[in-house]
Amino acid sequence: MKLLILGGTRFLGRHLAQQALQAGHELSMLHRGRSAGGLFPEAEHLIADRDREGEFAAALAGGAWDAVIDTSAYLPRQVQAAAAALAGRVGQYHLVSTISVYAGFDAAVTDEGAPLQVLPDPGVQVVDGSSYGGLKALCEAAAYEGFEDGCLVSRPGLLVGPFDPTGRFTWWVQRFVRADSGDDDETEVLAPGEPTTPVQFIDARDAAAWMLHQAEAGHRGTYNLTGPESPATMGELLAAARDTLAPTSQLLWVDEDFLLARGVAPWSDLPVWLPQAQSGVHRVDITRALDTGLQCRPWAQTLRDTAVWAASAAPPALGGPLRPQVGLAPEREADLRAAWRER
Ligand SMILES: NC(=O)c1ccc[n+]([C@@H]2O[C@H](COP(=O)([O-])OP(=O)(O)OC[C@H]3O[C@@H](n4cnc5c(N)ncnc54)[C@H](OP(=O)(O)O)[C@@H]3O)[C@@H](O)[C@H]2O)c1
Repeated sequence: MKLLILGGTRFLGRHLAQQALQAGHELSMLHRGRSAGGLFPEAEHLIADRDREGEFAAALAGGAWDAVIDTSAYLPRQVQAAAAALAGRVGQYHLVSTISVYAGFDAAVTDEGAPLQVLPDPGVQVVDGSSYGGLKALCEAAAYEGFEDGCLVSRPGLLVGPFDPTGRFTWWVQRFVRADSGDDDETEVLAPGEPTTPVQFIDARDAAAWMLHQAEAGHRGTYNLTGPESPATMGELLAAARDTLAPTSQLLWVDEDFLLARGVAPWSDLPVWLPQAQSGVHRVDITRALDTGLQCRPWAQTLRDTAVWAASAAPPALGGPLRPQVGLAPEREADLRAAWRER
């Protein structure tokens, strides 16, 4: 198969590229050449900025692909430019969207037919926390309009694993590695809220494998894309992290009201975790993805591989970990544990 990735050098795209080459596909990648130079010499690298339409169209001119996977579109005009440059010369166009497109997560489970966000100003050009989901919803509409003969939209939940630039899931991995370090102050890990709170995330390598399979199969339509295959809980995640990375550590479950009252921010101070009232984000229906071949690897493998990658001393430009500021500092976590015990 001739495959084009619009992106492909950072995280999800990087796993896609690696798996596509391993499977023997003929790979082209369009990016600006800024991240991870020298990666994938076997692929054709089309160096262009997709925000410069002339440059973007020129880089793609004359090419034809069986499938295109677009990991780097955040604005509808970027999808429109892709359609203008590629329509009629590709089999399947796959837009990587997000579950953040949904207007809310109040339902027992959120399936692909749930209402989408509508932006007050659809012309907004700034991608931030308030516009990201609504803009991706507009990207989806532009994709279906521009590639009406063959459009697939995936809506990933939280992507995790090696090369994750956000540091969110990685923070928990590093927290359990510290719990195993022999430092007595670190062996007890603050576990937020209730062990029964639902949790969903997907190893980016499993998302990439499913995406490649969709390209090979030529499927169409919209698919939520997260894991694990069966519903799971925060309690199961933290127990798996403990058993895999720090078997002698203990979990100290701290009530969510206690944490919220002390200004602990769900998702950023304690990544992945959301309080019960917001936990619908972790109850997305993935039946369609499972029916089309999604397979999720065991958590222990994701935890171990992420730990190995996070311990790498390589600089980000060579695939080493970024060090984003997410997650509680050790001292703040220790203070919270002490305050919980003294309450
Ligand atoms: N992380 C999550 O938890 C999560 C959850 C749901 C959905 N998603 C979606 O999943 C996708 C993940 O993306 P990723 O960053 O992992 O993909 P990626 O393909 O690994 O990395 C992004 C690529 O886009 C290229 N790029 C960025 N700006 C560009 C521009 N103006 N012109 C040309 N190329 C450009 C980058 O290369 P250069 O910098 O060299 O140009 C890089 O190759 C996103 O669409 C995101 O919305 C992520």
